[in-house]
Amino acid sequence: MKNRIVSGMRPTGKLHIGHYLGVIQNWVELQKKYESFFFVADWHALTTKYDKTETLKQDTIDVVIDWLASGLDPELSAIYVQSLVPEIAELNIYLGMVTPQNWVERDPTLKDMAKVLRGKTEIPDNAVCSPQAAANCHFRDDILVSYGLMGYPVLMSADIMMFNASAVPVGSDQVAHIEITRDIARRFNNIYKTDFFVEPLPLLNDCALICGLDGCKMGKSFENDIKISDTQEVTAKKIMSAITDKSRIRRDDPGHPEQCQVAFKYWEIFGAPEQIETIKSECKQGLRGCADCKRQLGAVINEKFAPIREKRRYYEQHPDEVREILAAGTARARAEAQKVLSEVKNIIGMY
Ligand code: TRP
Repeated sequence: MKNRIVSGMRPTGKLHIGHYLGVIQNWVELQKKYESFFFVADWHALTTKYDKTETLKQDTIDVVIDWLASGLDPELSAIYVQSLVPEIAELNIYLGMVTPQNWVERDPTLKDMAKVLRGKTEIPDNAVCSPQAAANCHFRDDILVSYGLMGYPVLMSADIMMFNASAVPVGSDQVAHIEITRDIARRFNNIYKTDFFVEPLPLLNDCALICGLDGCKMGKSFENDIKISDTQEVTAKKIMSAITDKSRIRRDDPGHPEQCQVAFKYWEIFGAPEQIETIKSECKQGLRGCADCKRQLGAVINEKFAPIREKRRYYEQHPDEVREILAAGTARARAEAQKVLSEVKNIIGMY
């Protein structure tokens, strides 16, 4: 039997190429090796955006379409929406009962999140790296840290433990959450004298993070991203705005690829190895202008995403098919969740 993995993403709407390179591409590989459950974390979205729900449904569909277009295969993976699996909410209740209050209070991700949301702290160093980007990013200062937000780590544990998954593909920012999940699983097992729950491990994906067009962390709210769904024209135009080696003024000035903060970094991700060497040497000798270089880069990126975008258009034009995929994924997830839940209730001693 294959080991199980679970992972989720918030419904942030159309995804950018950073999501593709950092998360989805990895999922697409993992689904071949693991029994996989991938879901849109719409309850998690409500923990901070409970009053911003107008676009929630469309954002959810957009995320799923980007996943499918990028190669998540509904034959291999259960693809579902969190709130359509009510068993997760029920497990959340049982896990909440055994989780000490101070475990959720000390969750470092949550602490940062609450502070940032309240606008009471500097934006963390790793969130953005330039004042302009920070200025573009409007954190709300009227946010309420709700009971639901405090419960985030328990809910996330329920997402994972619902399928008794042994590994969770996440970024390093989520590792603290997986630690809490392990703690909760262990505590549950101790209290009820069972070995039912597996202690899941984070499955870190150490790919290079792609920065935004301005050299800051790529993010929707920073307006420095390239969407998977962007057209070729929009992509090409956005790439032309990417920053390059600022010390270069004339076309034939010798360039410094190492200091070319965005364009050359993108080449390193999207270019073929020989191509990268040629670009490096031409740039250093002043034989390659930044505008031409970025035009070529835009074409390479467009070529890479062309099949994904084509598939994306297909799903956009066939929304019923997307809904069917979600319904099937949800049914599959629920069937597994019901098995786990009935075992959990039995272990605790519920009716
Ligand atoms: N907290 C994750 C994020 O913000 C999303 C998430 C929710 C998740 N539940 C999960 C990821 C369970 C992995 C497993 O990115």
